[in-house]
Amino acid sequence: MTARILDGNALAAEVRAQLAEKAAALKATQGVTPCLAVILVGEDPASQVYVRNKVAACEKAGFRSIKEVYPPNVEPVEVLAKIAQLNADPSVHGILVQLPLPKQFDADAVLEAISPEKDVDGFHAENVGALMQGNPRFIPCTPYGVMKMLESGNVPLKGAEAVIVGRSNIVGKPMAMLLLAQSCTVTVCHSQSKDLAFHTKRADILVAAVGRARMITGDMIKPGATVIDVGINRTPEGKLCGDVDFESAKEVAGLITPVPGGVGPMTITMLLANTLESAERTLK
Ligand code: GUN
Repeated sequence: MTARILDGNALAAEVRAQLAEKAAALKATQGVTPCLAVILVGEDPASQVYVRNKVAACEKAGFRSIKEVYPPNVEPVEVLAKIAQLNADPSVHGILVQLPLPKQFDADAVLEAISPEKDVDGFHAENVGALMQGNPRFIPCTPYGVMKMLESGNVPLKGAEAVIVGRSNIVGKPMAMLLLAQSCTVTVCHSQSKDLAFHTKRADILVAAVGRARMITGDMIKPGATVIDVGINRTPEGKLCGDVDFESAKEVAGLITPVPGGVGPMTITMLLANTLESAERTLK
């Protein structure tokens, strides 16, 4: 049997339309336009595309955006001064520094410089701690988008075996916290895991977030499982592909996200949701 596809483009369009409506209402009733500031350092082509897409998504939803671009050799103190200025600006509700940063930067120090109240990525240590305590202020956008997709697919979570492949701060770790909060039994696998297939074959929900093209194949998946592919890789021919080998996986899984058109569009959608939420909180 072929798996049902979880369509991230369709879900993202639906959620973004709701966010645009809420942003318009906020503007009409309170005179507040949600505003996201995005900082890009360097010329990494993938980061340039992500930042362009984030700014475009803001504009389409009626949000204001500020884009600050720095050359790769900029002094960190200059970027930190910009962050301080954005922290102090009440018309700015979200601040995001696109990662990775060039090597002269201490990325943790940059993330800690962002006001936790404007940290719409949810990467500040204070917000990481709040998520871990089950009391999140901002949920990191990619895992937040995955949770929305699971919800839209009516995937049962309570007591489910959830296996995450990848332990990054951006996806793997917060994903584990969110699934745990929904009473999944969570296993986190990584590059040193001894028998990856042993773990993945037990998963009712399998989240692949490693950044290795098509490494999860159909024979590693439990029949009927929900397979969420967070990977965005390029094949040697230059085609986009995920961490999951879609062709073999879709013959075994019950529900699966494609790449492109799966988790990707939901990441930016949840960034908008966090920015709107931040703007609304300033009125409380
Ligand atoms: N680089 C890759 N993913 C992300 C993300 O979600 N946020 C930021 N700021 N940088 C990233």
